[in-house]
Amino acid sequence: MKQDIFNNSSQYSIEFWESAYTYAIEKVRDNISNFSDGYPAPSSNNNVYPKIANIEWTSSFWNGMLWLSYLHTRDEVFRHAGEATLEDYATRLQKRIETNTHDLGFLYILSAKAEYLVTHNESAKITALLAADLLMERYHPKAGIIQAWGDLEDPNQRGRIIIDCLMNIPLLFWATEETKNPRYQEAALRHLARTRETIIRPDATTYHTYYFDTETGNPLRGVTAQGYSDDSCWARGQAWGIYGLTLAYTYTLDPACLVDAKRLAEYFLSHLPSDDVCYWDLIFTDGDEERDSSACAIASCGLMLLASLLPEDDIDAVRYQNKALDMLASLSKSYTTQDNPESNGILMHAVYGKPNNAGVDECVVWGDYFYMEALGTVLGSATRFW
Ligand code: GLY
Repeated sequence: MKQDIFNNSSQYSIEFWESAYTYAIEKVRDNISNFSDGYPAPSSNNNVYPKIANIEWTSSFWNGMLWLSYLHTRDEVFRHAGEATLEDYATRLQKRIETNTHDLGFLYILSAKAEYLVTHNESAKITALLAADLLMERYHPKAGIIQAWGDLEDPNQRGRIIIDCLMNIPLLFWATEETKNPRYQEAALRHLARTRETIIRPDATTYHTYYFDTETGNPLRGVTAQGYSDDSCWARGQAWGIYGLTLAYTYTLDPACLVDAKRLAEYFLSHLPSDDVCYWDLIFTDGDEERDSSACAIASCGLMLLASLLPEDDIDAVRYQNKALDMLASLSKSYTTQDNPESNGILMHAVYGKPNNAGVDECVVWGDYFYMEALGTVLGSATRFW
């Protein structure tokens, strides 16, 4: 129903979106032979992704792009490329290769779980459920949180959550749906509650990361890792929040998730520059700082889903849908690699981590993925893997 409102009020033609998506899908196709024995690095060098082994939190964005391409084209070349990686993901889990991270959610939702949703392969489902088991090892029951990074005993990381985890807990909600074992969902619900009570500030901005005392469960302090300062609002974190809270609603049906998603969305939208593509931290609204096109792509996905879930009489729904399209159109017109044939990426002008000078004004692989997810959503071919 909402989709009709969305299409009728859109100032962009289907051809415009088809052309944007075809460009992205053909870039994925061009990359298949190069990445048949590896994965794009998290960020590019001069807009070219180096090839690396399956060791990063970002490998699965490549898989996600393959599955989205398959769903849109039904060309078996994409399906085969996706299926060929499953064993690699199973081995990574089994040997615990760089698995000291909550990003097991990103990693296994877009690889094994996506494969299961598209092909119904039972081995893929089992692999995704094993990833959920491993993610549960990072749960600190006293604090009710899933530790984001590093060894559970590392004093610098112990008890630390980050807003990005809202995109990882869908793996746990799904694991309970599949197995009927409530323990995954219980952990996800507690982590969600603790994130909402600490990471979201009263003015609807967000901390990037937050520490808890794992012995007492008490909240300690918010600090940034990739934002401008501890009390600024890192743009990608806000985008993860908009989408992650909205996804949480799809599992919990708790209207408070939508209320918070809207609060974060309002702050995000009121801090966009004139071309609708945010700076890397929302403390900047004009000037020479870099943009983060990936935050814009993530927020577009979040806003479209949010708009589709709001009650019929919510006047913000159409506004969110239209703004998501404006943001996406701006990316399509001015941020792609279309005029840069040397690039193996899709979206330029993202920032991975400005404070540590990582991937600044480069392509980032999740930016490419969420840009495609948003286009696939507009065109109706994408499945929601989350
Ligand atoms: N999840 C890590 C990042 O957004 O950079």
